[in-house]
Amino acid sequence: MVRKNSAHKNSKKTFGSLGKFVDLPYDHGLMRETFLPFCKAPISEADIQAVVAVLRSGWITTGPKVAELERSIATRCGAKEAVAATSATALMHLYLQAIGLKPGDEVVGPSMTWVSTPNMVELLGGRNVFVDVDRDTLLASPEALEAAITARTKVVIPVHYTGAPVDLDPIRALCARKGVHLLEDAAHAIGTHYKGREIGMGGTAIFSLHPIKTITSGEGGVLVTDDSALAAKIRGLRFHGLAVDAHDRAQQGRSPQAEVQQPGYKQNMPDMNAVLALSQLPRLDSLIARRQELATLYREQLAHIDGVTMLADPKWSHKHARHLLVVRVDERRCGMERSAFMEALKAKNIGTGIHFLASHTHRWYRENRPEPAGRLANTDWNSSRICTLPMFPDMADQDVLDVVNAIKEVLPKSVAKVAVTGVAR
Ligand SMILES: Cc1ncc(COP(=O)(O)O)c(C=O)c1O
Repeated sequence: MVRKNSAHKNSKKTFGSLGKFVDLPYDHGLMRETFLPFCKAPISEADIQAVVAVLRSGWITTGPKVAELERSIATRCGAKEAVAATSATALMHLYLQAIGLKPGDEVVGPSMTWVSTPNMVELLGGRNVFVDVDRDTLLASPEALEAAITARTKVVIPVHYTGAPVDLDPIRALCARKGVHLLEDAAHAIGTHYKGREIGMGGTAIFSLHPIKTITSGEGGVLVTDDSALAAKIRGLRFHGLAVDAHDRAQQGRSPQAEVQQPGYKQNMPDMNAVLALSQLPRLDSLIARRQELATLYREQLAHIDGVTMLADPKWSHKHARHLLVVRVDERRCGMERSAFMEALKAKNIGTGIHFLASHTHRWYRENRPEPAGRLANTDWNSSRICTLPMFPDMADQDVLDVVNAIKEVLPKSVAKVAVTGVAR
């Protein structure tokens, strides 16, 4: 996969605990022949056939496959209820409406998230109260969340960022003590565990099934909860406020002229989407296991590059879903700022992304909801430095080495241009 641009030599090296032998070309002028994107959905032939079967079945919109996806995810998480919709963003919208978010109500959560959540809050007239995150995990702490809760707080929405869980036990205790709702933004965290429990168990959480996520329905999301009344409200709002959908009517012989209970939206997931995620769900653990191997290899290799630093893992017991491989590009140490770093990697056929520009730094928020300088110091520091490197289960170990070698080559101050991990043979 690596093309020589100028004379170079290869070295046989062994890589730390992996103990694998690879040819590692590590001097100048090398690049991949093919572009390595930062993500790629793990779609198998069986997944494709499952979608084709739905297309042939005559039932394309919300139907048995959505019901099966909901049941399967609820069972996996040990949750009573699961509700699928067209995206995690749609579910956030439905959830905020279902809990009765009113103009002026406050929503406490990190600015370091995909801006879809703050947007939903704003669109419903609520106020985002952003909290700073830990500088190295990018997770919101129970202390930071507690300090932001006021008498106007309606709900606290922490994010299991990149698939690492926030410290749920104290956050649950805090929300119970303060009498506010707790919604876990688990967009990154399907398959994550916190202290031996799968995310989604014992709380209310929203998973995203967008194509970048560990498993995907094309677009889609699933909310899990033990609160049956909440789930019923969200189901109603999801489909015009009818309280039944086309499948319910067909299955249960309900009147085709069901009446609006309260005005609702049109955010139901079609079966052809649901079946794609359903087909991938049995592979979730093995997909995460491969992500964990890739992340371990990245950690070993990046340890030798000053100024390109991975996030720290949480201290509490957990299983990380490794949804994204985020590094911080620190110009003071590596001699290059993030956008130049991303451009240089692109020129070497390596794709990158940013997850995320902090919400309060987006133009509308800067202009309409300005934050005092320094209030979100860790968020700001990371927002201008984070960069997502390629990581998806179909990647080979050599792909990681290609990325690391490209980084070594592009960095002006890379001390590691000729240094490799492991013991030379
Ligand atoms: C942290 C976070 N929350 C919410 C969302 C929204 O997910 P969706 O794209 O399914 O609406 C995303 C999407 O990437 C996300 O990263």
